[in-house]
Amino acid sequence: MSEWIEIGPLDEIPRLGARVIQTPQGDIALFRTRGDSVFAVQDRCPHRQGPLSQGLVHDNTVTCPLHNWEIDLESGRALPPDEGCANTYPTRVENGVVMIELATTR
Ligand code: FES
Repeated sequence: MSEWIEIGPLDEIPRLGARVIQTPQGDIALFRTRGDSVFAVQDRCPHRQGPLSQGLVHDNTVTCPLHNWEIDLESGRALPPDEGCANTYPTRVENGVVMIELATTR
């Protein structure tokens, strides 16, 4: 079971930046790309749990601030030659409001 949860206005996420939300599944980083796409990725790098939310966003990728692994925002996968995957979550933007789909904990 899952449900869509309203996060807030798209404008509260800096373009090419991220906003972190706390959820029962742990911290999730919401990234906003240059083209205003929004991606939700677990805020823990698959390498050594670096805070991806503090990384640099370029295209649909974020570079981890700790050791520069590049993580694809859509799949959560590290780009080769690195290997690993962070959880991702479905998002959508409705009338300028960001929504995320999370598993229900009930
Ligand atoms: S913790 Fe992200 S690259 Fe090492």
